[in-house]
Amino acid sequence: MAQRATWATRLGFLVAAIGSAVGLGNIWQFPFKTAANGGAVFLVVYLIAVVGIGLPTLLAEFVIGRRTQTNAVDAFRKLGYPKLRVIGAFGAFIGFWIVSYYSVVGGWVGRYVIGSLRGAYFSAPQQYFGSIAVGPDAIFFHGLFMAVTVGVVALGVNSGIERATKVMVPSIVVLMIALAGWAATRPGAMAGYDYFLDPQFGTLVANAGDIVPFAVGQAFFTLSLGMAIMITYSSYVGGDTSLLVDGGIVVVMNTLIGVLAGLVVFPVLFANNVDPATSGPDALFVAMANAFSQVPGGRFLGALFFGVVLIAALSSAISLLEVVVSYASDHASASRPRVALLTGSTLFVLGIPSAWDSAWLGWFDTLAYKLFLPLSVLLLLIFVGWILADEAVDQLLQGSDNRWLGSLWLWTVRTVVIVAVIGTLALGLETLLLGGDIVPPL
Ligand code: PHE
Repeated sequence: MAQRATWATRLGFLVAAIGSAVGLGNIWQFPFKTAANGGAVFLVVYLIAVVGIGLPTLLAEFVIGRRTQTNAVDAFRKLGYPKLRVIGAFGAFIGFWIVSYYSVVGGWVGRYVIGSLRGAYFSAPQQYFGSIAVGPDAIFFHGLFMAVTVGVVALGVNSGIERATKVMVPSIVVLMIALAGWAATRPGAMAGYDYFLDPQFGTLVANAGDIVPFAVGQAFFTLSLGMAIMITYSSYVGGDTSLLVDGGIVVVMNTLIGVLAGLVVFPVLFANNVDPATSGPDALFVAMANAFSQVPGGRFLGALFFGVVLIAALSSAISLLEVVVSYASDHASASRPRVALLTGSTLFVLGIPSAWDSAWLGWFDTLAYKLFLPLSVLLLLIFVGWILADEAVDQLLQGSDNRWLGSLWLWTVRTVVIVAVIGTLALGLETLLLGGDIVPPL
């Protein structure tokens, strides 16, 4: 078997992991889910969820990946639990589930870059979204998005993923900062900051049953957890760098970029009298397009904004494709480009219902958030916390020597985190069943 790939540099790993984390979750979903769940109060719960639940889970995935140096399925065999390969496979399945519709949204974004340059949505933002979001157009751009993703993954870990994300991630940061600076100059931006940053705790108390599962689900989604992705990426980490530090950097960067996205979106919406609470997958598109249609230089700014979103979405989709490609490469059965193409084609077909009718997209998304992600993370945490246990701590601490932090991590995973995830799963299931959302929109 050919030598297995490793990241050329530590930075390469970090940038790829940040590229996976930062995506539509931060820019498309985060603002509209914040708006739908009470504004700033959601931000507070989300931040607690990211640090208290997301980070320990991310470290759990890193531990499995670096320890086994193999794909997310065989990792469990290598650790001595061949039956538990099902956990890795379940993660990969969820990644598939999510990327199928993620790519449809990625296609919309690509379409909006072109639409901005041509001013296509300027006269009627709402109708424009309706005309491109479903049907043959949406399928075409979904295919295009998937094709670019396949192209990067086909080039390999170093010359494809590492090289691409090293350009993509810094671009996202720089452009987002520039856009946030521009947003700050909008008259009326202050109301947006208030809405985003000034929590009303009464809302939380009244709607905890909805807010908490969404915030925790969002923490998993945004950190690419429960999808076998971070296991795969960390399996290419060769040296003994500190996983604690790397995990911390990924979480901080991902959160900063998410907040930055809010600092672009909310001021712009409020400055243009767009109500952010008209929540839904179209919120970002319609509302931002509406805003761009009203400002000087709107074509350019619109293309820039949707361009950033597109880059962020691509670097996430890439990471999921790599999960499957790494499995196939470890089995040395087929060439990397072939596997990438086959995986991409499967994802394309799976995404067609979502591109045909947004009810499907919503169904896929809801099930992923409320059921699959928390369930997958729960299984993983039980495995790492209670079965691997001390072995996991040893692995975590290679490259850093902080026994105290290691034990804190293990006990947090074993208790608080697992209990919180069970609670989230229960709340999510309850709303799924009571709301009837579990039934596919046939
Ligand atoms: N972390 C990504 C985001 O926030 C989510 C994601 C990554 C989804 C990879 C699918 C695959 O957008």
